[in-house]
Amino acid sequence: GDPGPDWFAQVRRLAAERDAVILAHNYQMPAIQDVADHVGDSLALSRLAAESDAGTIVFAGVHFMAETAKILSLDKTVIIPDARAGCSLADTIDADQLRAWKAERPGAAVVAYVNTTAEVKAESDICCTSSNAVEVVRSIPADREVLFLPDMFLGAHVRRLTGRENLHTWLGECHVHADISPDDLVAAVRADADAELYVHPECGCSTSALWMTSSGELAPERTHVLSTGGMLDAARTSTARKVLVATEVGMLHQLRKANAGTDFQPVNPQASCRYMKMITPEKLINALRTGRDEVRVAPDIAERARDAVRKMIAIGN
Ligand code: 13P
Ligand code: SF4
Repeated sequence: GDPGPDWFAQVRRLAAERDAVILAHNYQMPAIQDVADHVGDSLALSRLAAESDAGTIVFAGVHFMAETAKILSLDKTVIIPDARAGCSLADTIDADQLRAWKAERPGAAVVAYVNTTAEVKAESDICCTSSNAVEVVRSIPADREVLFLPDMFLGAHVRRLTGRENLHTWLGECHVHADISPDDLVAAVRADADAELYVHPECGCSTSALWMTSSGELAPERTHVLSTGGMLDAARTSTARKVLVATEVGMLHQLRKANAGTDFQPVNPQASCRYMKMITPEKLINALRTGRDEVRVAPDIAERARDAVRKMIAIGN
């Protein structure tokens, strides 16, 4: 439930006392989004972390996001309210597995989605997020092989858009987006013949959306495969009566705030990330009081990962 005005005022006061900026991902619970200084997608939050003047960053999101902020600014204190907030997608590949994959294809460029550990980023040439993955891959010479990791659906989406047959994808997936099934999507679209559709590229069902588009069942102008930040941009100027949203349900809060004239509904209302929801109002207050959990990255790993992250934040919108 709503933690109330006292909680809100206390969070703001404690943040000011600590010279802390609070960054929240679009999948956080509504109260946390509302109390944060900035809400955004992974790319926007990385950029904000890199540019912020605050001495402390409190990251309301999952661990790899806080780690990315730390990699960009080792001199800042980075706090996550619960260090156990992991990511099932980031867990699908570790640095040893990546080294073995690289050994199979020497010379290939490694493109790591930001949903990876610092150790994996340190083994990569360039990072990307769902909002700039296509541009990042286009920045690599067309004749160079690409190892894209860890998300197979985002990899397939990038392969489709760039037409690159020399792009190989790791077979990882996010359990939340994988659970938004093609059946859910097809049923939702058929039940609402004129609704528009926003689909996150981590969804396995993004392929079904495109298949429905090519079979003529879904008009191409109704179908948008977008990052969470891209969804928000589209929502601001949308004139649709209804939009069906295929991503984690936390996203609906910003979409509804951005455009009260459109009815945003989830394709799967159960698609909630338990890691994102480990950041509770209570834990946020505790983090501001105690300075825990502090995120640390070994300097040599951070050094090697920084280059890949910096290249990522320089590409795309
Ligand atoms: P974006 O915010 O970059 O779209 O990422 C979605 C996601 O799953 C982050 O965990
Ligand atoms: Fe990871 Fe999926 Fe949760 Fe995003 S929604 S943090 S990809 S488990």
